[in-house]
Amino acid sequence: MTHIVPAALPVDFARLGEDVAALDRAGSDRIQWDVMDGQFVPNLTYGADVIAACRPYADCGFEAHVMCERPEELLHTYAQAGCEVVLVHPETLRQPHATLQQLRAQGVRPGLALSPGTPLAAAEPLLDLIEVLLVMTVNPGFGGQSYLASMEPKIAAARTLLDAADHPIELEVDGGIGPDTIARAARAGADVFVSGSALWRYPSFREGIADLRSRAASARGEEVGEQR
Ligand code: DX5
Repeated sequence: MTHIVPAALPVDFARLGEDVAALDRAGSDRIQWDVMDGQFVPNLTYGADVIAACRPYADCGFEAHVMCERPEELLHTYAQAGCEVVLVHPETLRQPHATLQQLRAQGVRPGLALSPGTPLAAAEPLLDLIEVLLVMTVNPGFGGQSYLASMEPKIAAARTLLDAADHPIELEVDGGIGPDTIARAARAGADVFVSGSALWRYPSFREGIADLRSRAASARGEEVGEQR
């Protein structure tokens, strides 16, 4: 199943709840919150309190993409804020196995996010503990960057790895995903697509989500599923 996940990064921060409600109404499968601490990445965004404040504005799922140094102490706050998925970067964790176990114990679906420079091997020993693997197609930290086609072999290798896993694991891509790149990422093996700046360039969120879903689904050889 093809999922389109708008990134709450190009949002109007002065009207955040309204933007989130509009993304939900437009058929988002989930909304991704890019949590950045200015340490792991050279940018600062928002924390769990902002996510919690927006939770009542949408029915769709929320996912937290935690781009922070030493995230362990705050990971429980994303579950409390209403996130169903929490993605962490393995290089930020002192005890990755224990941290992913804790996430599951908190009732969220744990995921790993791999920066372009982080090998797939960083996720292999932890596959039994995750339900989402995010392969970044830009360097984490900012929206509006260009898609890294050089990540496609990594996406394809991840597809092979996840297809051999003993439980379903979503293969998500994030970074520069738009009408000109989503089919390539889908053909490489992705099934969940995060889009930020490209989605905001469409006349409406609904048209953008529908177009991106259609492009990805046809590239994956799927019938274009009904939008939420
Ligand atoms: C980078 C962010 C962005 C965001 C999507 O750290 O993770 O990739 O989600 O933004 P666009 O679609 O503009 O690359």
